[in-house]
Amino acid sequence: RVVRILGVPMDLGQGRRGVDMGPSAVRYAGLQARLEGLGYQVEDGGNIIVPVPEEVRAVGPGGMRHLEAVAEACERVFQAVRETVADGRFPIILGGDHSIAMGTIAGVIAAAGPTGVLWIDAHGDFNTPETSPSGNIHGMPLAHLVGRGHPRLIQIGGPEPKLRPEQIVLIGVRSLDPEERRAMAESGMLVFTMREIDELGIATVVRQALTRLKAWPRLHVSLDLDVLDPQVAPGVGTPVPGGLTYREAHLMMEILADSGRVGSVDVVEINPILDERNRTAELAVELLASLLGQQIL
Ligand code: ARG
Ligand code: MN
Ligand code: MN
Ligand code: MN
Repeated sequence: RVVRILGVPMDLGQGRRGVDMGPSAVRYAGLQARLEGLGYQVEDGGNIIVPVPEEVRAVGPGGMRHLEAVAEACERVFQAVRETVADGRFPIILGGDHSIAMGTIAGVIAAAGPTGVLWIDAHGDFNTPETSPSGNIHGMPLAHLVGRGHPRLIQIGGPEPKLRPEQIVLIGVRSLDPEERRAMAESGMLVFTMREIDELGIATVVRQALTRLKAWPRLHVSLDLDVLDPQVAPGVGTPVPGGLTYREAHLMMEILADSGRVGSVDVVEINPILDERNRTAELAVELLASLLGQQIL
């Protein structure tokens, strides 16, 4: 199997924080060598071109931050991911903020057809421009993927909604805005909050997620590193206490690897400025290795 790494140095989905340096940090942490050690052939497709926040208009219509620049970058992500999947490669997309998933998931689906999505995140990312308290588009990608929100973003990679709520499972949620929470409860998406993980255990949660998505043999994992507890992953854009442990995160990746169904992955929201000697990027490399089949014995 051939893996292709794509970097998306995007820090437009909110005020500048430093998550545009995520692709460098993960490459520096040795992703390519690590995957080659697992027997993969690894290509690096380089970075998608993304403007820096300083060169683009800050606030778009409806108070949305950098709307046009985010949309254009996501169109480029869409093209690159579609091509990668059409070439039979396994894409690993390194963010950048989570708004890139509007491009990655549209690209996967354009090339591979219907795909189940595991959205692994402390947040719901289910705000629309109307419900967002911040105007930050990285808090909105999942809403736009199901067709709720601003048409410019809904139409990335084609006019129709990319996902139905039934093909999405969220894992690790612990921070929702009030109206986002209401919309999520009514959406029909399956949501495993931290409470369910505490009560059921991560293994049961992941197995139930895989069962829920059984109609979709192919799965995309959208991994926001802020799902981990800030004690193990301090280098993220929007940390929230009470997240996954190191072991829970690994076990989740191992169970997903065993399913044999994961065909693509996003790794987003790593912020090297807040990190401690690149440990969050190193953790991301470890988790990717587990997702791609690394075993202890
Ligand atoms: N819910 C908040 C907002 O809409 C935070 C979103 C955080 N999203 C993320 N991808 N880290 O602004
Ligand atoms: Mn700006
Ligand atoms: Mn997110
Ligand atoms: Mn998040």
